[in-house]
Amino acid sequence: MKSSSINEKYHSLYRWSIQDPINFWSEQAGHFIKWMRPWTDVLKKDDNKTHAKWFVGAKLNVSSNCLDRHLIKKGDKTAIIWEGDDPNDRKQMTYNELYIEVCKFSNVLKSLNVNKGDRVCIYMPNIIETAVAMLACARLGAIHSVIFGGFSSNALKDRINDTQCKVVVSANEGKRGGKNIPIKGIMDDALQECPSIEKVVVVKHTESDANMHTGRDIWYHEVMKPASDMCAPEAVDSNDPLFILYTSGSTGKPKGILHSSAGYLLHCSLTFKHVFDYKEDEVFWCTADLAWITGHSYVLYGPLSMGATIVLYEGVPTYPTASRYWEVIDRYKVNTLYTAPTILRTLVGMGDSYLNDSTRESLRLLGSVGEPIDAETWDWYFSKVGNQKCPILDTWWQTETGGIMLSQMLQTITKKCGDNVKPMFGIVPDLVDDSEVLTNEDTGNLVIKEPWPGQMLTIYNDEKRFQDTYFTNSKNGGFYIPGDRASYNEKRTLRITGRADDTLNVAGHLIGATEVEAALIKHEAVAEAAVVGYPHPVKGQGIYAYVALINKYQPDEKMINELLNLVKTEISGIAKPDVLHWTPELPKTRSGKVMRRILRKISNNEFDDVGDTSTLVNPSIVELLVNSRTQYGG
Ligand code: PRX
Repeated sequence: MKSSSINEKYHSLYRWSIQDPINFWSEQAGHFIKWMRPWTDVLKKDDNKTHAKWFVGAKLNVSSNCLDRHLIKKGDKTAIIWEGDDPNDRKQMTYNELYIEVCKFSNVLKSLNVNKGDRVCIYMPNIIETAVAMLACARLGAIHSVIFGGFSSNALKDRINDTQCKVVVSANEGKRGGKNIPIKGIMDDALQECPSIEKVVVVKHTESDANMHTGRDIWYHEVMKPASDMCAPEAVDSNDPLFILYTSGSTGKPKGILHSSAGYLLHCSLTFKHVFDYKEDEVFWCTADLAWITGHSYVLYGPLSMGATIVLYEGVPTYPTASRYWEVIDRYKVNTLYTAPTILRTLVGMGDSYLNDSTRESLRLLGSVGEPIDAETWDWYFSKVGNQKCPILDTWWQTETGGIMLSQMLQTITKKCGDNVKPMFGIVPDLVDDSEVLTNEDTGNLVIKEPWPGQMLTIYNDEKRFQDTYFTNSKNGGFYIPGDRASYNEKRTLRITGRADDTLNVAGHLIGATEVEAALIKHEAVAEAAVVGYPHPVKGQGIYAYVALINKYQPDEKMINELLNLVKTEISGIAKPDVLHWTPELPKTRSGKVMRRILRKISNNEFDDVGDTSTLVNPSIVELLVNSRTQYGG
């Protein structure tokens, strides 16, 4: 079977991808990517299947796939429509203009001695220059590491030191919800302990001045002016890294997920085209910040490689009012909106009246990503936002998977929340039990049985953690373990129900329970702390922290503020606990293990069924926790 037709029915393409993956991927790679040199092997697997190399021997350049190849036919087409936090701040860039900007910035990076394989940190607001910096790195074969502009200086410092970046691209300030965010100041704090950084390029995004460090900091607008707009794209190996992106795990520090160039680009281009069925002249709006994987794959690389017009929005959904998204959709005639349930739940909570002044007539398709979407939110999205005419695609994937893995497909979709989710081409999902053995039960831990092109290469600097975290042991075939629970419905299609580990999904962002605990116990008053998730009406999951203070300290207002601020400065505002539950000690087994199962039950208000407490050193602590009142939040 041979076909490159995008309109081919999902089922026959899927069957082809499973039965004859080599020819399937060879055909897709030829269709979706412009190569500089062909491959010798489509796929080479290592013995235990944890490393798969795709399109071995081939060369390409990701930035030229996103820009240069569109110039002849689509040079004047709008590539990016940017809308600032302030509704009066707007800017658009055609493919020609973006190409020139990227070439110029590539030359700037070159002049700063950035070469192929070097790491560049991008710590920016959600603005066009962020996309330019990412594409310029890709043009040189340098590896970008984009850090969310809301992360604290400590979080930034740890990430820069892990990757040993040479250069940071940043801005004087960001803007969110009408407030200016002192990005440069936060970065300056971080850089005091980042010896690898040689230069900082600063975008002047707001009127405010910045404290420029002589010899280190340079203004973007000043270095861009004389830069040449000619920069030949570097020929990069298929399996050379394109970027590192940090995500939280259930234990230890965040993981630097390393992605390839060719396989990653193919996965996000193909899924962008097939899942969202992008049509020429449509406007696609993925509301994610460029600093998250959704921003990398479906704001930038997937859409631009397909020559799409995207919306890039700097601000929040509720500023100046909760009508903002709907105004943006009408203003730019957005055809596809791809957003997260937590945003929708926030907007549901603000009331339907905010929809009144917009029609959202241009919408054809709606997408959801980042966390399970509940039926109530789905109904509102379908009936109110989409006027009952737009299908909703619930897409499941992860930073590690590079692009969409499971989704409803337009050709098979039904108008029901969570129904008929299909695996993407080449994706073979299954369920295992807690001992990692394939199970016939309807519920279990999700595994992906075969490698796919968008799969992460490894964890940067930590191959062992990569092997330990993501794969079943080789006896079971080295299946990839995403760390999610899933169940089959009556039609035998999968539904993702939540995390299987101690990672919390808070407003669509993964936060490691141990990261928050580590921040809390840095406070001199904290003897011990344990963090679990609990159902939160807007964020999906909230952060519930059990804290034991050293005797001489009081759990008063001052202590609450100190602890919350500590988490904010150690990680970010997103990681601040919603509930602090004071306790004299944590419930522990005789071997000293904190019984999280019990803590989860209590935070979920499941007091009647806390389970067996006989192995605890001090079982009475459970009763005390059940009966004690939380002192903050809840
Ligand atoms: O638990 C799953 C949840 O988000 C996790 C991945 O988070 P991250 O790497 O930050 O990437 C988020 C954007 C792709 C998954 O392991 N998740 C993501 N999408 C869904 C979801 N859970 C349920 N339904 C989804 N559609």
